Amino acid sequence: VSPPDPRLARYLARGHRAVQGWCSDVGREFAVRVDAVQRQGGVAGHVAEIGVHHGKLFILLMLLRRPGERGVAVDVFEQVQGNVDGSGKGDEAVFRRNLRRHAGGDMDVRVLRGDSRTFGAADLIGAAGGLLRLFSVDGGHTAEIVRHDLNTAAYALAPGGVIILDDYFNPEWPAVSEGTCRFLEGPDNPGLVPFALGGNKVLFTTGPEPAARYLEAFLEQGFAWEHKVTTFFGHRVVSVSHQRPGVLRRLTRSPFWRRFRESPLGRAARRLSG
Ligand SMILES: C[S@@+](CC[C@H](N)C(=O)[O-])C[C@H]1O[C@@H](n2cnc3c(N)ncnc32)[C@H](O)[C@@H]1O
Repeated sequence: VSPPDPRLARYLARGHRAVQGWCSDVGREFAVRVDAVQRQGGVAGHVAEIGVHHGKLFILLMLLRRPGERGVAVDVFEQVQGNVDGSGKGDEAVFRRNLRRHAGGDMDVRVLRGDSRTFGAADLIGAAGGLLRLFSVDGGHTAEIVRHDLNTAAYALAPGGVIILDDYFNPEWPAVSEGTCRFLEGPDNPGLVPFALGGNKVLFTTGPEPAARYLEAFLEQGFAWEHKVTTFFGHRVVSVSHQRPGVLRRLTRSPFWRRFRESPLGRAARRLSG
C-alpha cells in the first residue's frame, strides 16, 4: 500500500480553508474514511467530481489518489448558460491555481468542460482511463440534473466505489432530494445502497455487501460528532450530526465513566438515583 500524499495532512489541517467552496468537516472526514476502507479492501479506480467550483473537495480527492490514478473534473465553469439554477460558479483559472497550490499540479486532472447533461458514464470512464472509486456529485441542483448526474456516477463506479452526493438534506435545494428519489426508485438504478449521511452529504456504494463493510468500519472507528444508526431507503446507515457531543455526553461515554459505573461507589450511586 502506497503511503499517503504528504500534502494531505497539510490540506486537512489548514489548506482547505484557503479554498472558497462548500465542504464541511464531516464531508472531508467521510472522504478520508472511505479512502481508508478502499485501501484496505483493495478497491481500485480513479476519482471524479461533477461540480468542482474552485476545487475545495476535488483537491482532497486528488490528494487521496494512489500512484497511477487520475482525477476527472466536470464543470460548466464560466459558461453561465449551463448553470441553469445558479448553484455555485466555477472558475477554471482559480480551480487550476488551487490545484497547483494544494495538490502539486493539474497534470493528472482531466477536465470535461460543459453542462454535465452532455456527458455520460462512458465519457468519464474514457477521460479517467478506467472506472471510478470516489465520485462526488455536486453540480447543477435541479431534479433533472441530479438524476442525470447520479446515473452518470452510478454507471462509472468500480465495484465497491462510492458516490458522495451533496445537498440532499439542504432545504435551499429541495430538488436535489427530488432528483435523487426519482433515480433511486426508478428503473435505471443499478442497485446503489446508502450507508452514511451527514455534513450535507449522502454516501452510496454499489450494493449491500460493500455498504455493510463501510458502515461497520465507520462505526468501529466512531465519530467525534453525535451520530446514530438509522434506516434510509430500507438500508442501515450511520447519520452523523455536525454537533460535537456536550461535556456530559463525552464524560458518560469515556472509559473512566464505565469503570466508575462498575465500582462500588458507582453502583451505590445508581441504586440511590433509582
Ligand atoms: C456548489 S458548487 C460545487 C462546490 C464544490 N464541490 C466544492 O467543493 O466547493 C456547484 C458547481 O457546479 C457547477 N455547475 C452548475 N451547473 C452545472 C451543470 N449543469 N453542469 C456542470 N457543472 C455545473 C458550477 O459551476 C459550480 O462550480
